[in-house]
Amino acid sequence: MNERDGIFAGDDPFEIARRWLAEAESAEPNDPNAVALATVDAQGLPDVRVVLLKEIEGQDEDGTFVFYTNYESAKGRQIEDTGTAAFVMHWKSLRRQIRVRGDVTRAPSAQSDAYYDSRPLDSRIGAWASAQSRLLDSRDTLISAVEEGKRSLGSHPARPACWGGYRIRPREIEFWADGAFRLHDRFKWVRRKIDRPDNGLPQGWTESRSGTWRIARLAP
Ligand SMILES: Cc1cc2nc3c(=O)[nH]c(=O)nc-3n(C[C@H](O)[C@H](O)[C@H](O)COP(=O)(O)O)c2cc1C
Repeated sequence: MNERDGIFAGDDPFEIARRWLAEAESAEPNDPNAVALATVDAQGLPDVRVVLLKEIEGQDEDGTFVFYTNYESAKGRQIEDTGTAAFVMHWKSLRRQIRVRGDVTRAPSAQSDAYYDSRPLDSRIGAWASAQSRLLDSRDTLISAVEEGKRSLGSHPARPACWGGYRIRPREIEFWADGAFRLHDRFKWVRRKIDRPDNGLPQGWTESRSGTWRIARLAP
């Protein structure tokens, strides 16, 4: 029995994440959708940077977390190599965090096109002008690339092939909320491995109604 109620209640981790993000949108002064995205490089060295989570889509078995970036950036190359990433979102106003670890795939082109087309023109041109994470000899070089883009790309530039969305499909999600005297609440959701023989539910775990997730309370 892990007494999951209140802000932790629910049978779908994506619903809970959307609910928490909606609360953060009215409580946080800036960027409630900012996440610290961790990847691992070819040497096994972890790397981390902030990106904006743009969608929490789908539910249960099929839900994913989506962000947009340059596929040839450092993070893009690390993701292409490993197919994995993790992120944490922390809301100081709510004193809560969500942690996710999972497998990453590129969003379908149509989805990346739609998001790219929704951005302000200057941001769309910026995606063309900035070879993200590559060496840049001066700020002037970047400004010139933007000016050149404004001249040559017109008012409806196509999305650069090296820029688009990534979908993170969680293997694990943890919901954490601050408690008095560091007695925080933590609930970990782990995707059930359907390719492994099922030896029953380990002690301390419950199962979501769909059978997709196993859920346990963790010590803070
Ligand atoms: C609040 C905030 C939001 C950001 N959002 C994004 C984003 O959505 N996509 C992105 O590629 N970089 C974003 N960045 C920049 C990244 O943190 C990072 O500098 C850049 O993506 C290059 O990272 P890399 O060299 O590890 O690939 C954001 C930075 C901050 C501080």
